[in-house]
Amino acid sequence: MRIRWSLDTPRSFLVRPRPGTTGVGHGAPPDGSARPPTSRPPRQVSVGGVTTGSPRVLPADSGIAEAASVLRTGGLVAFPTETVYGLGANALDARAAARIFEAKARPSFDPLITHLADAAELEKLVGPVPAAVTALAERFWPGPLTLIVDRPAAIPPIVTSGLATMAVRVPDNAYARALIAEAGVPVAAPSANRFGQLSPTRAEHVVRGLGAAVDVVLDGGPARCGIESTIVDARGGRPVVLRLGALPVEALEEAAGPVTVRPGSSGQPVAPGTLAAHYAPRTPLRLGARGGPPAAHRGRRGGRAGPGPAAGAGGAVEVLSAAGDLTEAAARLFDALHELDAAGVGEILVEPVPEVGVGRAINDRLRRAAATWHPTA
Ligand code: TXA
Ligand code: MG
Repeated sequence: MRIRWSLDTPRSFLVRPRPGTTGVGHGAPPDGSARPPTSRPPRQVSVGGVTTGSPRVLPADSGIAEAASVLRTGGLVAFPTETVYGLGANALDARAAARIFEAKARPSFDPLITHLADAAELEKLVGPVPAAVTALAERFWPGPLTLIVDRPAAIPPIVTSGLATMAVRVPDNAYARALIAEAGVPVAAPSANRFGQLSPTRAEHVVRGLGAAVDVVLDGGPARCGIESTIVDARGGRPVVLRLGALPVEALEEAAGPVTVRPGSSGQPVAPGTLAAHYAPRTPLRLGARGGPPAAHRGRRGGRAGPGPAAGAGGAVEVLSAAGDLTEAAARLFDALHELDAAGVGEILVEPVPEVGVGRAINDRLRRAAATWHPTA
């Protein structure tokens, strides 16, 4: 979708330099809004208490067979999808699935999405599904749509966190589908990041975030969409969107009529990906008004809206889409946040994008990332 909107303002990602001289997150911002340093995520990622090493990284062009064999033998393989990189395990193997929760430090109440190589596999795995579910699968698979179905007996309860339902999708990425087909099993895969942190859109994000907690990373280049799949429960009458994502609500409505968007809440999340604080960079992130930082930030060190990347004395600017293309902005979003994290800036200030199409999902992720810094009551 192309609309008359642009983030080419130098203020689209206005960043001020770190406020303190110690590591990221150790200096309180001048406005006193910092959470105690102890509550900050660590800069050095550790998994299971062990500082991470490096996983094996295989080029997707030549590594499918080896990665598939790792999956078949109970290992963890991070692989590209069109949305973000997934952390895959054999969905039929409870022990392999358990390793996903361990590697991500993911709470056991947060169920995984099962990935299939082909839409034809759905009924083979789960049996007959409601017509409305089939219709959406036929229309949007392969693609960034996750559908809710009844959990089949073949899928161990750990995959669905004990729920009677299962989330399932067919990714629109040739490497992902080849991997799943070659493995010959359904693949449970959350985004390949530590729980609550930024989703990875490149193999190197996975390596940096999870290290040797993952056995193999299949490098298939940057993810095309850059934002997670839209999750829809279409089992009842009117489809319910449980998580906004790369498939715009408008596209769903065009295919299925009016839908209900239920983004969930921090209280009783329907999908834990809809927790108030999620998708967060390590660097504190604030949502700013278009045209500049909130008034409270003007004049602060590096927090002033300025004419370009030099603004804010050492600040970094990431432009999501100079052309004002929301699809491009979504593809760049997590990448830009990863970059800013790596740049070691003290704070990230982001302008929300128009609340239309995939822009809704972008703003949803930004609000949740900002909620980490400003926890909602
Ligand atoms: O694009 C995506 O969906 C990526 C790629 C790898 O496919 N995966 C992804 O997975 O974003 P994850 O685990 O980061 O987010 C999946 C979300 C979670 O918030 C989870 O709670 C929700 O799906 N979910 C899983 N099973 C569910 C179910 N039975 N009912 C409701 N929500 C469910
Ligand atoms: Mg995730």
